[in-house]
Amino acid sequence: MSNDALPVDSRIQSLLARMTLEEKAGQLGVFADMVRPFAPDVNPETNMRNAAQVLDDVRAGRVGTLFNGVGAAQGRQIQRVAVEESRLGIPVLLAADVIHGMRTVFPIPLGEAASFEPELAERTARATAVEATAAGLHWTFAPAVDVARDQRWGRGAEGAGEDTLLGCAFAAARVRGFQGDDLRAADALLATPKHFAAYGAVAGGMDYNYVEISDGTLHDVHLPPFKAALDAGALTVMTAFNDINGVPASANQALLTGVLRGQWGFPGVVVSDYTADMELVAHGYAEDDRDATLRAFTAGMDMSMQSGFYAAHLPALVESGQVPLPLLDAAVGRVLALKAAIGLFDDPYRSLDPAREADASHLEAHEALAREAARRSIVLLKNEGGVLPLAGGQRIALVGPFARDLDNIEGCWTLFGDRTRYVSLEAGLRAGLPAEASLQVVDGCGLETALEGGIEAAVAAARAADVVLLAVGEPQRYSGEAQSRTRIELPPAQQALAEAVAATGTPVVVLLRNGRALALEGAVRDAQAILVTWFLGSQTGHAVADVVFGGYSPSARLPVSFPHASGQQPYFYNHPRTGRPETPQMSEFKARWREYPNTALYPFGHGLGYGRIEYGPVRVDAPVLEWDGALKVRATVRNVGACMAEEVVQLYLHDRVASRVRPVRELKGFRKLALAPGQSCEVVFELDRGQLAFTRADGSFGAEPGRFEVWIAPSAAAGEPAGFELLQPPA
Ligand code: GLC
Repeated sequence: MSNDALPVDSRIQSLLARMTLEEKAGQLGVFADMVRPFAPDVNPETNMRNAAQVLDDVRAGRVGTLFNGVGAAQGRQIQRVAVEESRLGIPVLLAADVIHGMRTVFPIPLGEAASFEPELAERTARATAVEATAAGLHWTFAPAVDVARDQRWGRGAEGAGEDTLLGCAFAAARVRGFQGDDLRAADALLATPKHFAAYGAVAGGMDYNYVEISDGTLHDVHLPPFKAALDAGALTVMTAFNDINGVPASANQALLTGVLRGQWGFPGVVVSDYTADMELVAHGYAEDDRDATLRAFTAGMDMSMQSGFYAAHLPALVESGQVPLPLLDAAVGRVLALKAAIGLFDDPYRSLDPAREADASHLEAHEALAREAARRSIVLLKNEGGVLPLAGGQRIALVGPFARDLDNIEGCWTLFGDRTRYVSLEAGLRAGLPAEASLQVVDGCGLETALEGGIEAAVAAARAADVVLLAVGEPQRYSGEAQSRTRIELPPAQQALAEAVAATGTPVVVLLRNGRALALEGAVRDAQAILVTWFLGSQTGHAVADVVFGGYSPSARLPVSFPHASGQQPYFYNHPRTGRPETPQMSEFKARWREYPNTALYPFGHGLGYGRIEYGPVRVDAPVLEWDGALKVRATVRNVGACMAEEVVQLYLHDRVASRVRPVRELKGFRKLALAPGQSCEVVFELDRGQLAFTRADGSFGAEPGRFEVWIAPSAAAGEPAGFELLQPPA
């Protein structure tokens, strides 16, 4: 990341020279777009300002960015006021939370991460950018790149799961997709990796809670996806609500200035999360609003969202000398440079073309991409007796509260989806039904409540069917912001339905709807087959039908561990060994629970297809890795099944002895490949000591010589390792 990514050129310098303190503070304010309000207000406070006041603020130069409004025509109205009626004519930035789709809704990011195809996420982000910029937006507050190791936290749905390497790959892909190749293009959408930092590590999985983590975990687990996003060209970062070891992220100088600017050379803009500066008072980190403003701004937070604190207090703080004028000018300069980088000073009306909005409002290509992304995100956990794919001529009972549902299709943080185009499970299955097959649909229960006669109707349908598709899971409102759960199970009414349907003896295929890993119990866990379908977006029904009827062999893998029980949280695959790891021979006085071992029911990286894949032994080309050398690791993978299948071949590493205890396994590479029946492929990965590096006990970052184990396997719990030794650095 070089500083010339945002040249503060002479035009900006001359603007700065003419701006008043109030106008400078105004450029650092981000407010809800009450000129173009969308229906639900997902942010915690309904903005009391109305459209006329917002336009007055724009005219007076008191606001530089509006968010969460859409519409090209009204966007032009706002921009005209900024450019033609304000004193200096500085264009406004128009932003929104466009997380996984705009009018066309793609799978939740956690679902897309299951594809293990960052290039797919890049494509869906690009399609999202086309639709969002057509609708009058310049900037999205995405991707969320928080590493989520505790499934009780509701916002794992917005990220790429529990693994850092996968998180880095998807963070970079989504930034590239949103921003495209030319930031000045009308369809380029500024990206914002969020929430900086370690928001996914909130204690107890409770949203907004405190975060206590070591420096090593912060730097090795939670920060790398942000660095990957910035290296991919992101020019804005959003701060997190939580504190980190007692210092709130939004006033954390060590992070916002020390790491972002000092270590990473980030030239871009740091924007707060919604009223995060105001919340410094609630945290007990600031005396009052003015103190909160001083602490957030001097720590390195350039823009303040929704609180109004910067307009209210920065001019006085500069006049009092508490905030040096050069610090203010630097922040304002970055914001103006950001606007220049996307061409707003040359074409303030870019992305504000109502004709283009109309053209982009329903693109068949995006529907097709939504269907492709959705089916490539579905994980097949089990398939006993090859019950899937369903054959023609079968009597199928589709049972459960998600069978016909269209209110739980899109997943969290979908603000602008075109609901008229959503495809329910029933609609998709009916459209794809094989010849002579029949489909009976019974809700059986509500999302959280029993239905009068529901179970009886479901049991009758199950008895009359050859197979039941059981559509159960979490209501959409159970994941996303402020949706932490103490128990990550199905609602009891749905579990009761599952038990009754399974008791009929008709084979059950679970179609799970979920925004996190769930603790599967009883008849759901014991079903003949389980498909994890996340929240798949607009094309849900067609995508599920593609997999269920064999049009597509499921190829996704778990980006989060599915535990045996809620009580295991936080559970993640790359945990330390402990001094008392359980062994096949010994469980007493070992690191485990009374009820369960220290394992997952379904591990990170797990997933099946309709082929049958076998792995040969992993081999290293040499028993040693020279300090400055490279080492090839290889294994042969073969499809011994009768169907084409795609396999996600995963490379894992374990550092046997180190100055800080290391994870039992860490993902160091993955490759998704298609294998025809009978086809085999030798997969080769190359290791060097850069991939062995970690934050050592002395705080330095690097590898340590010694013994390592390496796997090439289908999940974080499969396969046998090979060994090698990293040699000492040359004298
Ligand atoms: C929310 C979220 C953040 C979002 C912002 C603006 O509270 O934490 O992800 O971008 O406010 O809506």
